[in-house]
Amino acid sequence: METKILQPNNENYAYCAKLLQDGEVVAIPTETVYGLGANALCESGVKKIYEAKGRPSDNPLIVHVADFEMIEKLAYVNDRARIVMQNFMPGPVTMVLKKKDIVPSCVTGGLDTVGIRMPENEVALRLIKESGVPVCAPSANTSTRPSPTKATHVLYDLDGKIYAILDGGECKVGVESTIIDLTTEKTRLLRAGGMPVEILEEKLGKIEVVKSSTVALCPGMKYKHYSPKAPVFLFLPSEDLQTKVIEKYDTYNGKAVIFALSDNVNAYGDRTVYNVGKNAEEYAHNLFRFLRRADREEFDVILCEGVDDSGYGLGVMNRLIKASANNIIS
Ligand code: TXA
Ligand code: MG
Repeated sequence: METKILQPNNENYAYCAKLLQDGEVVAIPTETVYGLGANALCESGVKKIYEAKGRPSDNPLIVHVADFEMIEKLAYVNDRARIVMQNFMPGPVTMVLKKKDIVPSCVTGGLDTVGIRMPENEVALRLIKESGVPVCAPSANTSTRPSPTKATHVLYDLDGKIYAILDGGECKVGVESTIIDLTTEKTRLLRAGGMPVEILEEKLGKIEVVKSSTVALCPGMKYKHYSPKAPVFLFLPSEDLQTKVIEKYDTYNGKAVIFALSDNVNAYGDRTVYNVGKNAEEYAHNLFRFLRRADREEFDVILCEGVDDSGYGLGVMNRLIKASANNIIS
């Protein structure tokens, strides 16, 4: 099959909405990363997601909705969920709730809960509304690859495996949504992401955060993730971080690139640097596209500056730890 990148116009919305209704998959833009969407209520459509991605089917999918009515149809909405809906939806946050029977178990990997989010992206919202169905979607990369933040990234991974990629330009946030579990007595962070925990806590109260990278809180977190072809080394924040990066760069037998914050770029002299931005929020926006770019430019190793794990930094560090497969230098 031929995979087409389609611009969001009336004709293409109608075409993609029809594909979803017919149980086909369509890649859709969101504010976090591109998703590979299917009608969440159609089992044969959902199975095509797992096939296209090469994804293990015990790994549950997030269901994307365009209005609150759809949420009520899919899950039991409790008080904390209402707070999230009123304050943070649409936005880069996914809430895990007790599911209703209408949600097939192939969407939830057999769990009795479902992850739901309303993307803050006009193209996604319009497509979901026009199709009239909730759309389950994992990130639209081949399993283990960095998540796609542009239509061309999706094409690179899934060319020939899907009919259509709806082009919404570059994703604003750049890392996946923050996932919180609202089924437990205390709200728990399952995955750090594009919405800082501290901002959620202003409305929701304390959220339990397990910062250790060794525990898989949601099923998806146990798999290999975000891997470019080149090995990644992560340098934890410290006073002599730059010195350590330079030492590795200068002694590495191959072509290296450094991911550095704007303020530190000069410290590396004429070594090859990708400027990831001035803070963790900008780092989040650039990380996945730079991992992919480093592959295209055929670097042999990627040396990443770490950041403080508060605010947007927690989501960034989580991705960097996984991308580095625990090649961490402190
Ligand atoms: O920003 C995002 O969340 C993107 C865009 C496309 O919306 N989606 C995304 O999906 O990151 P995916 O499949 O790559 O990651 C979803 C994660 C997985 O780690 C999965 O285990 C977890 O969400 N998850 C989904 N439903 C869950 C549930 N009921 N309980 C616990 N974890 C769940
Ligand atoms: Mg993913």
